[in-house]
Amino acid sequence: MASRFAILAIVALVALPSVALATQWTVGDGIGWTNINSDYNAWAQDKVFRVGDSLLFSYPAGNHNVFKVNMTDFQQCNIPPPNEALSTGHDVIPLKTASVKWYICGIAEHCAKNNQKLKITVVDDAEGPAPPPTAAAAAPPTNKSSLGPNALISSSFKILAAAVVALVLITV
Ligand SMILES: *[C@@H]1O[C@H](CO)[C@@H](O)[C@H](O)[C@H]1NC(C)=O
Repeated sequence: MASRFAILAIVALVALPSVALATQWTVGDGIGWTNINSDYNAWAQDKVFRVGDSLLFSYPAGNHNVFKVNMTDFQQCNIPPPNEALSTGHDVIPLKTASVKWYICGIAEHCAKNNQKLKITVVDDAEGPAPPPTAAAAAPPTNKSSLGPNALISSSFKILAAAVVALVLITV
């Protein structure tokens, strides 16, 4: 019986690092989405945005809004048609793909004059810090500094390994 729990614990250790918890990022943290002293480059700089995370744009409705734009419109602060705006004051945007995303405020000159714009890079879920030693021991040898394809393979292997062990547990 005790060995079953040991195996379960190993399964948990192997499988859990593969399952990253989604984060909802409040843009600008405490100050929210604003044109006053806004520096969303600085805000985004030290953060890792992953597929599955979401952004929350929080602001007094009517004072600001949110447009998702392309790089050109971001740089030039071109405001899209009003019907494309998010404007509830509590706009949640799920980050569904690994790519660069650009957002601007379309009210007055908030983008052009006050720099109320946000650019982020969303990375794939599999990219990130190396797994802890216990998990690494169960995984095939991988390049320690691996990001990208190797990390993806390692992570898939861990899920597979966990599934196999779980299957063995069920059939015992
Ligand atoms: C960016 O979007 C605008 C319209 O929103 C469009 O006219 C323009 O062609 C797009 N630019 C690129 C490089 O996709």
